Amino acid sequence: MSSLSGALTEVVARVFDELGLPAEYGRVTISNRPDLGQFQCNGALAAAKAAKQNPRAIAEQVMAKLQVMPQLRDTSLAGPGFINLSVTDERLAEHANWMAGDERLAVTRKRPEMVVLDYGGANIAKAMHVGHLRAAIIGDSLRRIFSFAGDNTVGDVHMGDWGLQMGMLISELEIRRPDLPYFDPNFKGPYPNASPVTVTELEEIYPTASAACKADPARNERARVATAELQQGRPGYRALWQHFFDISVEVLKRDYGALGVHFDLWKGEAHVDPLIGPMVEKMKAMGLAEVDQGALIVRVARPDDKKEIPPLILVKRDGAAMYSTTDLATIVDRVNEQNPDLILYIVDQRQHLHFEQVFRAAIMASLNGKAKMEHLGFGTMNGPDGKPFKTREGGVMKLQDLIAMMTGAALDRLKEQGLATDYDEAERKDIAKKVGLAALKFADLSNHRIANYVFDPDRFVRFEGKTGPYLLYAAVRIKSILRKADAQGDRPGTILPPEPGERDLVLALGALPDAIQAAYDERAPNRIADYAYGLAQTFSTYYNQFHILSEQNDALRRSRLGLAALTLRALELSLSLLGIEVPERM
Ligand code: ARG
Repeated sequence: MSSLSGALTEVVARVFDELGLPAEYGRVTISNRPDLGQFQCNGALAAAKAAKQNPRAIAEQVMAKLQVMPQLRDTSLAGPGFINLSVTDERLAEHANWMAGDERLAVTRKRPEMVVLDYGGANIAKAMHVGHLRAAIIGDSLRRIFSFAGDNTVGDVHMGDWGLQMGMLISELEIRRPDLPYFDPNFKGPYPNASPVTVTELEEIYPTASAACKADPARNERARVATAELQQGRPGYRALWQHFFDISVEVLKRDYGALGVHFDLWKGEAHVDPLIGPMVEKMKAMGLAEVDQGALIVRVARPDDKKEIPPLILVKRDGAAMYSTTDLATIVDRVNEQNPDLILYIVDQRQHLHFEQVFRAAIMASLNGKAKMEHLGFGTMNGPDGKPFKTREGGVMKLQDLIAMMTGAALDRLKEQGLATDYDEAERKDIAKKVGLAALKFADLSNHRIANYVFDPDRFVRFEGKTGPYLLYAAVRIKSILRKADAQGDRPGTILPPEPGERDLVLALGALPDAIQAAYDERAPNRIADYAYGLAQTFSTYYNQFHILSEQNDALRRSRLGLAALTLRALELSLSLLGIEVPERM
């Protein structure tokens, strides 16, 4: 048993089966006409079509069997054969108590699969910026959802550390400090242990180099050559690369950490360099890689393509590996190391064609083992002008600054609301940070990932409306009710059959597994965000209507506390799957 509708599906499917109809038509869902019933089953129509019978006649046969079931309070037939169902209040209470007694809140665990998730992609030498924010937020949430569902998950940061930007950096440093031993071809080593530059310097060197390369073809050529030489193993360049890598990883770990985003693997594109040679040989031997104007390409187009899919460039004419090459070799690495059933790439939708090419080539060359590969694209976080978000100065905002900005906005809003005012400084700061991060993450995850959205910190930190702070507040309020109850010696107790005004809350609780399942199936955390928001609203309505702490009847009071406690657990689970932490109090 999982959700309430899942439990009813089992019942109705059996009825279909008894009538000699395919059981899958017995699917029960939450009603989109709550005035007609709590749940609905539309299967009679499909079953009738398949059996070439009258849908209403089939629905009537199903109804006849359902009407005698003690757990159903009301069944009715609508239109050409829709069946509406409502369960008894005893059945609702039974489900709620069963959920309360289950540590997974009635969410069944699936058969585990090995899933690798790729949601980092920050680039060495460029400070992590908001461009990588969505990948981190969405990917981390998906990793949590997949783990909770029962899969074995591995999150890989897959840093960008092997492309032209490395050659740009190396050549820029060579221009500035030609005396460094890394540039002396006769240097016999060992190279210094400490990096010749700091991360802050790197962050200045990169944009300068990049602008210079754009402006001057000769300068760009130099970067290209340096990239090729790095990849071919020139010792001084490799040593320099290692410095850049080490100092950047330290900063990236700090930045992702501040966001509460976790990775199991800190690999980058360069990590798979040794796998590229053998992979390219294999693809040549299979006749998949062909020489075209000095480069090695893979033709991935298919005759039935609706739009043109250009060939994938495997090796450039100067021998350098491309973004696609390292992505292909990374598939080989993952098959060697994790042998995944599924690889999920949480990357900007604008890279869709790239992944289409990579997946096709991987399948043609059988590089992917048993792994299915999916690109889960996302839209951009835009500024008020509708273009990808930039700072007021026109640059990309650093993650640290963004977090500071959200925390500041949260502090202001807490003050305005009179929240957390009499706590000490440290706790208030901690709450503000949680509220700020919740605001940022929820704003991102409450849209379907493919949608663009506008970065609006003042709206995100509001305590009203569909926001992270609203949900935190809802959870914290229940915590406070439970604390007060505890102080007066009251524990949540058995949930009694709901009164009519309480039914919606029990129904909402019973739908938790459906929301998690939908988020899993659609790889869409917003399904959980929507659920959490709906549940918080339903609880708020309930709380306005029913007294909890002041209810005189002990059994009733404890039942209501039981509902409150269950609501809190459902909210906290939902929020944790979105990577959002709830403070103890506010
Ligand atoms: N480093 C890339 C970028 O900044 C993103 C990498 C995404 N992951 C991947 N396997 N290609 O655009």
